[in-house]
Amino acid sequence: LVLAFLAGGCQTPARDFEQVSSQEKVILKFSHVVGDNTPKGRAARRWAQLVQERSRGRVEIQVFPNSTLYKDGEELAAVQKGYVQIIAPATSKLTEFSPVWQLLDLPFYYEDIDAVHRLLDGPVGEKLKQSLFARNLLVLAYWDNGFKVMAANRPLVKVSDFRDLNFRIMNSPMLAKQFRRLGANPVAMAFSDVYSALEKGQVEGSENPPSNLYSKKFYQLQKYITLSNHGYVGYAVVVNKSQWEALDQKIRQLLLDTLQEVTIWERQEAFKQNLEDLERIRRAQGTKIIELTPEQRKEWQRILMPLREELAQEIGEDWF
Ligand code: LMR
Repeated sequence: LVLAFLAGGCQTPARDFEQVSSQEKVILKFSHVVGDNTPKGRAARRWAQLVQERSRGRVEIQVFPNSTLYKDGEELAAVQKGYVQIIAPATSKLTEFSPVWQLLDLPFYYEDIDAVHRLLDGPVGEKLKQSLFARNLLVLAYWDNGFKVMAANRPLVKVSDFRDLNFRIMNSPMLAKQFRRLGANPVAMAFSDVYSALEKGQVEGSENPPSNLYSKKFYQLQKYITLSNHGYVGYAVVVNKSQWEALDQKIRQLLLDTLQEVTIWERQEAFKQNLEDLERIRRAQGTKIIELTPEQRKEWQRILMPLREELAQEIGEDWF
């Protein structure tokens, strides 16, 4: 199928998509904040590769990893203004636009990754997308990272172990509440600033799936990791809505078809890579890995599970 991107077939104002050649080539900039060799980084490159191949080079997704184009705190505004066409922020960061995205930050709420997918791939996932329309943002897909573990420079076993620890969090009210309930001090910070903050002792702990702790080498600055799997990190693949709607229909279909394939692949790879990266951290032997007993886990859950009621009060029971 030769996709004919004829001049004029794409009504998008020139400023948004650079038309590089007479063949009306469309270039889409994809900015994200993690390394290339992470579930999100690999999926972004795979999507770009498939699109390049299937459009015979007429549509190009240029991927800018590691906050090289925009960092946390910049990328949402950048995609809203059309300076970049695609981002894939952790859903926690979308709480900046609507409190309903805190749903995905609830600790000990999702039994397993399938429970998360049932929510995201069902009516609630659609309602979440609608919450961003007024911001001129459109969610095209939901990608996974995985469940978070707790990393710190003291062993975190009992809830009292969190007392007064400065903990880096993504910018989300739910994550701040989570750590305050545990007796810690939440410090919201861009992902690109975490390594140096750990190095300088500005924060003493962080939560993330193993793939992020490994890819950014945070584990080298954290003596202990508790395999809490207390919360989920996943991504919304977000585009500038008006730019998207101005794209030639054939281009949109190509992007969506390839993205659907990549999403299936990404979710499988994210699950695998988090297990592999945890093993790599274990083999590095610089970080003690702690498993919680059922009783220890229950103490954390007793403290954190009431956050579900608090959120229902804030956003309405009909979201649950
Ligand atoms: C973070 O802690 O900010 C990361 O989870 C971000 C990401 O994109 O994985």
